Amino acid sequence: MRTPYLAGNWKMNLDRRAALDLVSALREHVGDRTDVDVAVAPPFVYLDEIARALAGSRVAVGAQNMCDEPSGAFTGEVSGAMLVDVGASFVILGHSERRHVYGETDDLVATKVGAALSAGLDVILCVGETIQEREAGETEAVVRRHLTQGLRDVAREDMRRVTIAYEPVWAIGTGHNATPEQAGEVHQYLRGLLEGLHGAAVAEATRIQYGGSVKPANVAELMAVDDVDGALVGGASLSPDSFLPIVDLGR
Ligand code: PGA
Repeated sequence: MRTPYLAGNWKMNLDRRAALDLVSALREHVGDRTDVDVAVAPPFVYLDEIARALAGSRVAVGAQNMCDEPSGAFTGEVSGAMLVDVGASFVILGHSERRHVYGETDDLVATKVGAALSAGLDVILCVGETIQEREAGETEAVVRRHLTQGLRDVAREDMRRVTIAYEPVWAIGTGHNATPEQAGEVHQYLRGLLEGLHGAAVAEATRIQYGGSVKPANVAELMAVDDVDGALVGGASLSPDSFLPIVDLGR
């Protein structure tokens, strides 16, 4: 049985006050519940403070990106060890905005995944096709490449620290979520790939989140799909009004 995992990717949004108000509401709402795992990924500059505000709670704090190198002359970058140092426990890697806006390659994403695990961070690895790729019938080929390349350096025993997020690029920030059928097809395909890579036990245990225009009104139908084990939420994670009902899986 996989515990649903709901993570908020704030992207470059909120200010300090709004961020603290949001996590205070979230902390109270989640309390000591164990039926869901909940996490937030604030911008780097707020990580330290948000991690303090959530210390001792059941809400995890992570980053939206990190450097593939451990230290050195990499102006503007942040290392995995620094993230751990300020209280982050995971990092989102391979998000489509990193791939498509900042040109991150499969190779760079794979190196970051290895660096994150070495630094002691858990990983949410994002995979997903653009609308052009979907219309060209390339969805499976694209997510296969993202998954197999992204996990290139991950040992089987480290897979318990990895979550996959299927985020069709055409559904991100557009208000047009994938249908439960569309999500189900790709999630099932991804689980099959995980089985091929690491065996049935790992495939069964690995959580595969769906991401792309998740909101209170569609979360229940998406979470009802067999292979959908949670959500990576952008816009709707920015306010308690929308994120708290999502944490409740729309119930
Ligand atoms: P969205 O973003 O929920 O705003 O569509 C999801 C994501 O990019 O993780």
